[in-house]
Amino acid sequence: MFDATDVEVIPLGEACGAEIRGVDLKKDLSDEVVAKIQQAWNDHLVLCFRGQDLTQEDQLRFAARFGPLGARKQAPEPLRDKAEGVWQLDPKILLVSNIKVDGIPVGAFGDGDMWFHIDSGYSEKPYKYTFLYGVELPAEGGDTLFANMYKAYDALSDDMKKRIAGKKALHIHEYKRAEKVDLSTDISKVPHWFHPVAITHPLTKRKALFVDRLMTARIEGVSNEESDEILRELYDHGEKPEFTYAHKWRLGDFVMWDNLALIHARSWFPPEQRRLMRRCTVDGAPVFE
Ligand code: OGA
Ligand code: MN
Repeated sequence: MFDATDVEVIPLGEACGAEIRGVDLKKDLSDEVVAKIQQAWNDHLVLCFRGQDLTQEDQLRFAARFGPLGARKQAPEPLRDKAEGVWQLDPKILLVSNIKVDGIPVGAFGDGDMWFHIDSGYSEKPYKYTFLYGVELPAEGGDTLFANMYKAYDALSDDMKKRIAGKKALHIHEYKRAEKVDLSTDISKVPHWFHPVAITHPLTKRKALFVDRLMTARIEGVSNEESDEILRELYDHGEKPEFTYAHKWRLGDFVMWDNLALIHARSWFPPEQRRLMRRCTVDGAPVFE
């Protein structure tokens, strides 16, 4: 029987991240243990449990302790071939993979690196949490990188904090992985939403920068030039090494992150090596400055 006193929290880096020991996620966890995990999560933003052996049901049962599970988002028809994959059978699960069967992708996000982003940041209610389990891993690369957006916000100059105060930005998803969105076309059919450039985290009440290189495309209420200048500065700032932690996956790792306090990315891995990750989420709500 697990007891909250068995839960050990070991920080993984300066920026964010902690490993949690003493918990078997297959088991039914007491409210006390869940509360201890939640506290560590608020403090460290991304948690890793090593050596887990989890079925899809185990993963969903554990994730549901932190709120209503999110549904996998369906890409609009014209973008559908860039998303999805043919093994996507459960509406609460997204398989992230480069594996193909008869030339057809089985999962989402394929090969290569992926720029920093917020999961479903392009929607009215970005997911609150994301949970990722490593099922098959390449021998090298394919790290998941996390950047602490509390630290990034706190470290902005007073001038920049003033420039972005009260501003909203367009978040838009064309199902690209390492390429800017094309705003010269009609975006009405491309999923998008406007969010404050800095948000107040609903749980911790801390200010977090809410901008990412992949999907944040335009700050409202300023010229194109000024928007581009500010966004370039904010992308580079948020991705600074002092705010980031790179997770090098080992088989059996279960990683969960706070999708409102972090942005995350993926590093390159050899395309001929298989990578399969199982993702689920907890639903979010509109975010506010
Ligand atoms: C995701 C994601 C990165 C990775 O599942 O949302 O960004 O390393 N994954 O697979
Ligand atoms: Mn993601």
